[in-house]
Amino acid sequence: MNSIKIFKPEVKNGNIQAVDINGKVVKGIVRDHMLELALDNNQCIVYNEETGKCYRKDVQLYYDQAPTEKEVEASEKIDADPVLAFIHNSPELIPDTMKISDLKWKYLMRSAVRGKNIMMTGPAGCGKTMAAQKVVEATGRPHFYFNLGATQDPRATLIGNTHFKKEEGTSFSQSAFVKAIQTENAVILLDEISRAHPEAWNILMTVLDYGQRYLRLDEHENAPTIEVAKGVCFIATANIGNEYTATRAMDRALVDRFTIIEMDTLNKEQESGLLKDLHPGITVEQADTIAEIASLTRKEVTNEAPKLTNAISTRLSVEIAGLLEDGFTLPEAAEACIYPFFDADGGVDSERTYIKQLVQKYIGTAEEDIFNADEVEAQEEQV
Ligand SMILES: Nc1ncnc2c1ncn2[C@@H]1O[C@H](COP(=O)(O)OP(=O)(O)OP(=O)(O)O)[C@@H](O)[C@H]1O
Ligand SMILES: [Mg+2]
Repeated sequence: MNSIKIFKPEVKNGNIQAVDINGKVVKGIVRDHMLELALDNNQCIVYNEETGKCYRKDVQLYYDQAPTEKEVEASEKIDADPVLAFIHNSPELIPDTMKISDLKWKYLMRSAVRGKNIMMTGPAGCGKTMAAQKVVEATGRPHFYFNLGATQDPRATLIGNTHFKKEEGTSFSQSAFVKAIQTENAVILLDEISRAHPEAWNILMTVLDYGQRYLRLDEHENAPTIEVAKGVCFIATANIGNEYTATRAMDRALVDRFTIIEMDTLNKEQESGLLKDLHPGITVEQADTIAEIASLTRKEVTNEAPKLTNAISTRLSVEIAGLLEDGFTLPEAAEACIYPFFDADGGVDSERTYIKQLVQKYIGTAEEDIFNADEVEAQEEQV
């Protein structure tokens, strides 16, 4: 469809000319005679770039394709404002190794540039942390990373430590987080916020509130506060609404302080493409097989009476592809890194048994295919 262009005939200063859907005059493509005929019959010209041929069609086709006045206005506004232009052209910055829709990426970039609090949600291993890190890189702003899921002492991580020395008395050493929030235009990653200690959530409440935007250094009402600098953006990641029990149910008020961006799980084609990109040593069939098995597990967990409570994540798919690239067979890779993820409790009715049967189906066909391929090659050599 990209090789088709549509023009409208227009008379200017007594000359007939072809005008494209953006209102630009295009010369040297359509003959004047054809333009005149089109004009007389209320038609437009459809030009096929590949064949070089022009056809006359009802003029409505031109108007259907041409951007409306509003669209033109919007695109002029985008072109005139460097921030908007950056946001709308940002899909060009999506790295090849990151699979994310242009719209989600643009939404992320826009929220980052506008200093919003963003929460990336989605199941384990679907690229939340990765997307957050890529956005940080793409914006080129100062950035800080905090893994809230790993902190045992939220107060020390987010505020700092109080020390006592005999000679000097009590002193306070600020946390890296205090420095981060005072850095203008910083992008601050709050990874695994859903697994954070509830005290971390409490401390963050005022920091994330657009109306408050300060950090209180201790619980007392009159305790000193530190203002969040201009343009600071927070990007949190969370496993919410899924199977992870380690994830504490987050406070509604905390979640409300964020713009939620849900990461999409990849479909079979996207996942297979990613595996091949990351591990070019595997075959297309191997990439497809892994993607197919992963996709079946993802479908299974959404069933009404699911046989699995856990699906194979993209992270795990990538891991399996890496093993195959290093010469492991699919049965070996499955044994090493798929089965341990599934519960063996319940014997023949266990999730482990179910996933084994599922993988076995594919191991069968994959090996037969390889076997047959060898046979065909051997026969060809004989001829
Ligand atoms: N959409 C994606 N595009 C490219 N790679 C992906 C994607 N999703 C997952 N991956 C792969 O999986 C790995 C894990 O991704 P990431 O750490 O971002 O997941 P996560 O969603 O943060 O998981 P968790 O909930 O466990 O923290 C990445 O290093 C990458 O190899
Ligand atoms: Mg993560």
